[in-house]
Amino acid sequence: MKTLVVIKPDGVERGLVGEIISRFEKYGFSIKAIKITQLNRETAERLYAVHEGKTFFDDLIQYVTSGHIIPLVIEMKDSGIEEGIKLIRKIVGATNPLEAEMGSIRGDYASDISYNIVHASDSEKSNSYETPIFFNKEEILD
Ligand code: CMP
Repeated sequence: MKTLVVIKPDGVERGLVGEIISRFEKYGFSIKAIKITQLNRETAERLYAVHEGKTFFDDLIQYVTSGHIIPLVIEMKDSGIEEGIKLIRKIVGATNPLEAEMGSIRGDYASDISYNIVHASDSEKSNSYETPIFFNKEEILD
């Protein structure tokens, strides 16, 4: 399986890129696509379209467009998409860092739900929608 992870502006600014990638690698994921970029408002609104209308939407768009981000496609060979995403969500931790377990990325490095360091697709459907926002097919290696 392959799926999308995005290191958000606070993860990049705080110098946590190596640490975050290393955690996925240690669990057996390998990188199949990676870039550094900055989202414009339109693309950020497309990425987070499911949250449109929620109280935190404007702040979320402001935050995620505020600096450089690192989208990655990571792969776990011989794993189904559901199992792979489940493991990634365990490595990343709950959306609210106060509920994220110690030992997860958010549990160890974040304390505020608005600045939670990493985004990861939470289903096969969201991955199919989100990955093409960052990468075309040729950029994702086999
Ligand atoms: P993420 O996993 O990228 O998905 C949506 C993001 O919205 C979430 O991480 C947080 O960064 C942000 N967010 C801010 N407030 C909330 C909230 N109350 N509930 C869910 N997500 C929130």
